[in-house]
Amino acid sequence: MNQCLKLITERRSITFFDPSRDVSLELIKEILEVSATAPSGYNLQPWQVVVIMDKEKKKLLREICYGQKKVEDASANIVIIANTKAGFENVDRVLDSWVELGYIQSSVKESLKRSIEAGWNDPQRAKKKAVRDSALFAMNLMITARAYGLETHPMEGYDEAKLREFLNLEDHQEPVMIIAIGYKDPNQDLLPRAYRFKFEEFGRLI
Ligand SMILES: Cc1cc2nc3c(=O)[nH]c(=O)nc-3n(C[C@H](O)[C@H](O)[C@H](O)COP(=O)(O)O)c2cc1C
Repeated sequence: MNQCLKLITERRSITFFDPSRDVSLELIKEILEVSATAPSGYNLQPWQVVVIMDKEKKKLLREICYGQKKVEDASANIVIIANTKAGFENVDRVLDSWVELGYIQSSVKESLKRSIEAGWNDPQRAKKKAVRDSALFAMNLMITARAYGLETHPMEGYDEAKLREFLNLEDHQEPVMIIAIGYKDPNQDLLPRAYRFKFEEFGRLI
């Protein structure tokens, strides 16, 4: 099978990580920067991450994740955060690069900036944009990790208030999910992949 299809279709949420194996921060950074090639509205890249590799901090995070063992066994955990202020905070950097690359004339930058910012004024819309793009980044991360021989496990099972306190998050920083990353424990087998809906069950043609 084509290598890319294999990375996607053979991805599993790995419940059993090998606790004896570490991953270097350099490798995690490389995977994150490849993942950051994900698309985003106006290329605003509203994702942020916090990487947790330290053993004691993984223990604390495990408690916040209702005791999920994989949090402690994984080499690292990556908290994916949606920055709901990205429309304001990232817009200059993005538009300056568009000017540099010749996508737009510098004369239109300010008016384009105002129209982009207008889309981020409403908190609900801003949250939707930031979370949507961050989820694309997260999916890229899970596939990219596999290309480097690593496995992942996405998690929504955490106490959000405690996570916010643990990471000192500000109100505009919206936790999207935590992704545990590491090597699968070769001595443990996952259950077979559970049923996936067919097109007829989740799609329609009009
Ligand atoms: C956003 C998200 C949050 C999840 N949260 C948890 C979690 O907290 N704990 C857990 O054991 N599994 C969690 N899962 C894993 C799902 O249960 C798993 O993806 C699903 O059962 C399909 O299995 P597969 O990923 O091995 O194909 C989560 C998955 C996603 C995408």
